[in-house]
Amino acid sequence: MLRLYVVVALSFSLPVVASPRQGKQTYAFCAVCHGERGEGNHTVGAPQIAGMEEWYVREQLLKFQQGVRGTHPEDIAGMRMRPMARYLQNTAQIEAVSAYVAALPTLKSTSTLKGSWVKGEVHYKLCIACHGADGKGNSQLKAPALVGRSDWYLLTQMRNYKAGVRGNDPKRDPVGMTMRPITMTLDEQAMIDVVAYISGLR
Ligand code: HEC
Ligand code: HEC
Repeated sequence: MLRLYVVVALSFSLPVVASPRQGKQTYAFCAVCHGERGEGNHTVGAPQIAGMEEWYVREQLLKFQQGVRGTHPEDIAGMRMRPMARYLQNTAQIEAVSAYVAALPTLKSTSTLKGSWVKGEVHYKLCIACHGADGKGNSQLKAPALVGRSDWYLLTQMRNYKAGVRGNDPKRDPVGMTMRPITMTLDEQAMIDVVAYISGLR
């Protein structure tokens, strides 16, 4: 009886370690929307996530889980993602699936928008300080890479920040809030143009 108790107590106190196998197993669930190769699915609004930075995947999963993202009534796509993040049970599982997503080879994204690359280049000057001239992001500023992401998804997120649908919680999401003032300076066409420019970056 005592021995059984010790075994049970031990199994609960053992540190949870992220394993590659756990990442793969967990990802099978994500693949339903984000695709086997992380290529995304426009119809359900799930973006391409293959090769996304590990730290960024982790932070967004935590934001969805904690209800910092995907709770605004107008955020239909975010609300689709939120229960999926809540399904992840512990830090180890989040770490494992983030590592798995980051290790998926980055795919070329196909353009779905018609914008002016030339005008977009001018607007993109506003973005360089954080996302880099090459669009590869800056982990120190928590600004993700924008290259390799689906253009329709980038546009949706610009609109979301502008409308206060994402990055609207000063206490819990100061990082997300940094995007709001920038999007406020851009109208719809300017957002389309800047996304067209980003899609053309290699
Ligand atoms: C039911 C469909 C569905 C499933 C299953 C799903 N997602 Fe998502 N995911 C979405 C949608 C839709 C979005 C876009 C949300 C938005 O527009 O804000 C999203 C967004 C994301 C983002 C944010 C990307 C970014 O650029 O900010 C990450 C990261 C992500 N999902 C990872 C995962 C992981 C990891 C899993 C598995 C644990 C998963 N998703 C399962 C639908 C899904
Ligand atoms: C002051 C720094 C800063 C500047 C300038 C900036 N961004 Fe961001 N951007 C961020 C940060 C930080 C995030 C991550 C926010 C979060 O976690 O929600 C982000 C997120 C984004 C996202 C969401 C990406 C995703 O995968 O969901 C898009 C799209 C984006 N930025 C586009 C732009 C564009 C286009 C510009 C220029 C017009 C720009 N940003 C300028 C800091 C910046």
